[in-house]
Formats: sequence, C-alpha cells, structure tokens
Amino acid sequence: QKTALWGGRFATGPSPELVELSRSTHFDWRLAPYDLAGSRAHAFVLQAAGLLSRDDCTALIAGIDALAADVESGAFVAEPGDEDVHTALERGLLERLGPDLGGRLRAGRSRNDQIATLFKMYLRDHGRRIGGLVTDLARAIAEQAETHLGVAMPGRTHLQHAQPVLLSHHLLAHAWPLVRDLERLADWDARVAADSPYGAGALAGSSLGLDPEKVAADLGFTGSTANSIDGTSARDFVAEFAFVTAQIGIDLSRLAEEIIIWNTKEFDFVTLHDGYSTGSSIMPQKKNPDIAELARGKSGRLVGNLTGLLATLKGLPLAYNRDLQEDKEPVFDSIDTLEVLLPAFTGMVATLTFNTERMQELAPQGFALATDIAEWLVREGVPFRDAHELSGACVQLCEQRGIELWDLSDEDFAAISPALTPGVREVLTVEGSLASRDSRGGTALVRVTEQLAELRSRLP
Ligand code: ARG
Repeated sequence: QKTALWGGRFATGPSPELVELSRSTHFDWRLAPYDLAGSRAHAFVLQAAGLLSRDDCTALIAGIDALAADVESGAFVAEPGDEDVHTALERGLLERLGPDLGGRLRAGRSRNDQIATLFKMYLRDHGRRIGGLVTDLARAIAEQAETHLGVAMPGRTHLQHAQPVLLSHHLLAHAWPLVRDLERLADWDARVAADSPYGAGALAGSSLGLDPEKVAADLGFTGSTANSIDGTSARDFVAEFAFVTAQIGIDLSRLAEEIIIWNTKEFDFVTLHDGYSTGSSIMPQKKNPDIAELARGKSGRLVGNLTGLLATLKGLPLAYNRDLQEDKEPVFDSIDTLEVLLPAFTGMVATLTFNTERMQELAPQGFALATDIAEWLVREGVPFRDAHELSGACVQLCEQRGIELWDLSDEDFAAISPALTPGVREVLTVEGSLASRDSRGGTALVRVTEQLAELRSRLP
C-alpha cells in the first residue's frame, strides 16, 4: 500500500536508504496541529470554489477533527514509511475517510506552501510563549531593582572600578535589552502575520480559484503573500526569529557572567538560593551557579543555530529546494532551549540575595570619586583639561600614601591647587556623587525611580 504523496511516474518505490535520509517526521511532528488547522481552512476554500460539496466539506472537517483528536491523544503517530508530517496526516485522513473523499483535500496546495505557512504559525505561537517568559524575567529584574533602590555599588568599565552607581541602575541595564527583545518579537510577528503563503502552491499559485486571503484569515494571519515564489522559498522569517532567540541568549549570558563573578569568594556580592544552585560530587562545601553557567553555555548553541541556518540559506536558488527542510531543527532547538532556560534563570534572579553592605562599602573605592572632583572643579570654573589633571594628581598622591581620596587633608588639596578648596569634600561621598548624576538616564535615585516606571510601562 502506497503512502507517499508522489509515485505515479516511478517504476519502483524509493530505496530504503532514500527513505531513511528523506524522513523528517521525527522532528516535524510538532507541526501536526498546525497542518490540520491548515487542512480545515483549505477544505473551506475548496468548497467556496465549488470543488467540494457542502456534505463532502462537512465530512472532511469531521475526519480532520477526528484525526486531530487522535494526534493529540497519541493514538495516531507517524509510521516509518511516512516521509513527513504532511504525508502521515494525509494517510491518517485516507484511513478515516477512504480515498474518494480523503483524496480530494490535496487539490490546489503543495507541501511547499503548507510547510512555509505551518512553520510561521508554529513560530508565532512560540514567539508569544518566549515573549511571556522574557517578560517574566524582565519583571523579576525590575522587582529586584525596586527592592534595592538606594543601594550603591561599584560601577565598572574594563572590569575596573569606574564610578559609583545604584545597584538598581545596574540591574535595570540588564532589563532594557530584554525590553528590546520583546519589541523585536512583536515587530517580527506583525511582519510574519501579514504574509500567509497558503495558496501559493508549489511555487506559481493556483488555477483552482482558491482564496488565499480567506485561508490566511482563518489561520490567524492578517494577509497573504504577494508573490507565490517568495512565499514558498523565503526563510528570512526563520533567520530573523533565530536571531532574536540568539540575542535573548546573549542578553542572558551577560547577566549570567556577572552573577557568576558576583558569586565568587572574592566579590561576595550575591548569595544564590539553594533551590537555584548545585553541589559538587566530591567537594562537600561547593555551591555552584550552574543555571548561570548553562545560560552562558547555551547562548553559544543559540548563536550556532542561527549561523547554521544562514549557511543553509546562502546561495539557494529560487524557488523551493529540499535544503529548506534543514531550516527546522536549529530553530526548534533554539525554542526548546529558551523554554527550559528562561524559567530557571528567572527563578535564580528572583531569589538572588545581594550583600548590599559589601557593595556599598566597595562603591567609592579604587578612587571611583575622581571624576566627581574633576566635575566639581568644572562647576568652580576650571577648564576640564586642567580639572582632569588636578584630580589625577590627587589620585597619584593617594596611591603613594596608600589612602583614599577622602583621606586627603585640606592642606593636601591646597598644595595640589588653590582651586581645591575644602568645598570639594561635598562630592567625596557616594551619596553626593550619585545624587549629582541626575541627568535623564543617570544613576541619581530620582532618575532611577523614573526609569523603573518607564521600563515597566514598556513591558506588555
Ligand atoms: N518536509 C519538507 C520541508 O520541511 C516539505 C516537503 C516539501 N517536499 C518536496 N519534495 N517539495 O521543507
């Protein structure tokens, strides 16, 4: 019994080696519910075009519903002879409805327009799911920022102490990229929604008077593709989705790396919750930041999925080529990866405890207030070039004596420059430094409080 969707012009069936190579049901089965939704929409346009009687359409829909229930329950599964999800589901329909009725559904559609449509539907659903998980993480970061409003920490450039910042400001700097990822997902979704390929056929469109706009609307799209060749062969929607997932992975990896460093004995900035850290099989004392490490590691895998996909697409001629079957596994892997990683990562962030005393204590160290001296001098009328030099001289003197900037006496300051009057001491505190950085986007408490509200207003 023949289950392939082709074969009329072949004298023999496919070789076992070809069957083995060609089969995709082990990874495309997850598209089955979308294929069945496409079949329902297709049955309706066949009827509207006068190619299916009302009774036949009703019977077909009932058969598709029954098959959908069996797919859902696991009673219907792909067999080794089924080439792909489309082939398996047509077999299922033929088994339920017989060849006369079951064999009518395929008119005017091709696996090429089907797969492009189903893949979009699947990605749109998972884009929404991943968006929800990213939102949860952004909210968890915002929560931590709100809890710790007012706590100072060392701000770094080149991983060296630079200027004091608020812990909340730093945490929110990890949340904004996630906001942009969410906006990327939404932009992507709107673009994909406007472009349903169903009805494009193998590449050239259909001669049967089927309405692609009607199918598109039934499947949750806002429009159908303007070019049937483009609709069946373009995969930039997959690459763009893979990019957004890779970027999310990279954004997680940057926070992950900081948590790993903050969790060291040397930094001692954070304590991980027991439920979100792991032990060692030999060293009884160990408590490891495995979630953060897995996030850092898996970001490489997400990047690999994107570059592998782009390599598959490069140089492909129009229209559909079987190479395009290779577009699914990398992106499925990226989705599966993020859907397990994000909830664990969010739990780790939400339960993180900050050693705020130590962070505050370290905030001004390493001469992190040197810029404040220079900017105080500028406000006193000194040109910045000179102010920079004078503040640098203060740092040099402190380094020689092994003291901090606020340990310098009034006489020390005066000896460096008469412009350094005792008034300079007002900026030699962390509180003074933070409060002075009150420009939009700055680390002053008022600004960070506004920023927190702005971030929350950008979350869905
Ligand atoms: N399984 C294929 C894919 O994922 C769709 C089938 C198209 N096959 C074909 N011979 N035109 O792209």
